Amino acid sequence: MKRILITGGAGFLGSHLCERLLGEGHEIFCLDNLYTGVKGNIVHLEKNPRFTFIEQDVCDPLDLEVDQIYNLACPASPAHYQRDPVATVRTCVLGGMQMLDLAEKNNAKILQASTSEVYGDPKEHPQREDYVGHVNPIGPRACYDEGKRCVETLFFDALRHRGIECKVARIFNTYGPRMLKCDGRVVSNFVTQALENGPITIYGKGEQTRSFCYVDDLIEGLISMMQTPECSGPINLGNPTEFSILSLAKLILEMTGSTSLIEYRPLPADDPQLRRPDITRANKELGWQPHVPLKEGLLRTIDFFSNQGSHHVLS
Ligand SMILES: NC(=O)c1ccc[n+]([C@@H]2O[C@H](COP(=O)([O-])OP(=O)(O)OC[C@H]3O[C@@H](n4cnc5c(N)ncnc54)[C@H](O)[C@@H]3O)[C@@H](O)[C@H]2O)c1
Repeated sequence: MKRILITGGAGFLGSHLCERLLGEGHEIFCLDNLYTGVKGNIVHLEKNPRFTFIEQDVCDPLDLEVDQIYNLACPASPAHYQRDPVATVRTCVLGGMQMLDLAEKNNAKILQASTSEVYGDPKEHPQREDYVGHVNPIGPRACYDEGKRCVETLFFDALRHRGIECKVARIFNTYGPRMLKCDGRVVSNFVTQALENGPITIYGKGEQTRSFCYVDDLIEGLISMMQTPECSGPINLGNPTEFSILSLAKLILEMTGSTSLIEYRPLPADDPQLRRPDITRANKELGWQPHVPLKEGLLRTIDFFSNQGSHHVLS
């Protein structure tokens, strides 16, 4: 049994990670300031004596004995991370520094949740880990993109100079139950709009592509990376099957039997046109690849949103 700290543990990915590692018999410390996370995501875990919730900002000092740290704390949807851009940079950079100090003190392994956004609007396709990216440092997405790039820098310096066992996973679009309703991420937006028979909003012509990874596959990748010795990454984790946004909208309309109409809106600044991970490295080093097909994952996600009340909306 390991003592595992999961920051951002009340969020979408974090709550699935808490649940999975608790199920494997570990002692879980879930740290979250509930900025975008909700207690409802972890309430079913709180009865377990091996689960502790710590309501705290990841940027504040923490004294805890741990063997492993998954640093996931950070708002992930554009609407949320742009709401308070300075807080986003602070969470990425100061939060990363605090967690590295804690890892060093405990001689613990630490994994940072980074993002495909470090590639910006990429000029290479698909994106391999050695591509250094094409990021606008002053645009509205920069607080997140550059925050994550900076925390990656901190991690690789800590690996080189402090002997901390650091790992960086670059997560590509992941979806599934416990995403927040209408949080600005494409799957949750389309599913909730379709279920309400409201207009499906597409930015631009919908020709931009994304790859969508189901949450269970992603969690498997994170755990596998943590367990693989001397695997620092960065490693891309995502589903390489690429879909245009318009085809995703049509599939969701069909699966929900919705009467929604598609509404086209102007493309926001710095919206990446192409996004697809090259997962050769994850496959070689972790033996990892996603298994859940889009239709299967969407079914589970539609099921989750169909059974959910409006209390889950975050403005
Ligand atoms: N879901 C994806 O598609 C995706 C893609 C790329 C990267 N990621 C990364 O994975 C991580 C988790 O993303 P998610 O999709 O679960 O997002 P989420 O918004 O659901 O979860 C983030 C969690 O971090 C918490 N948090 C935010 N700021 C905090 C702070 N200062 N102190 C403590 N807690 C704080 C939030 O309350 C929330 O519970 C993030 O680091 C994100 O950048 C996610």
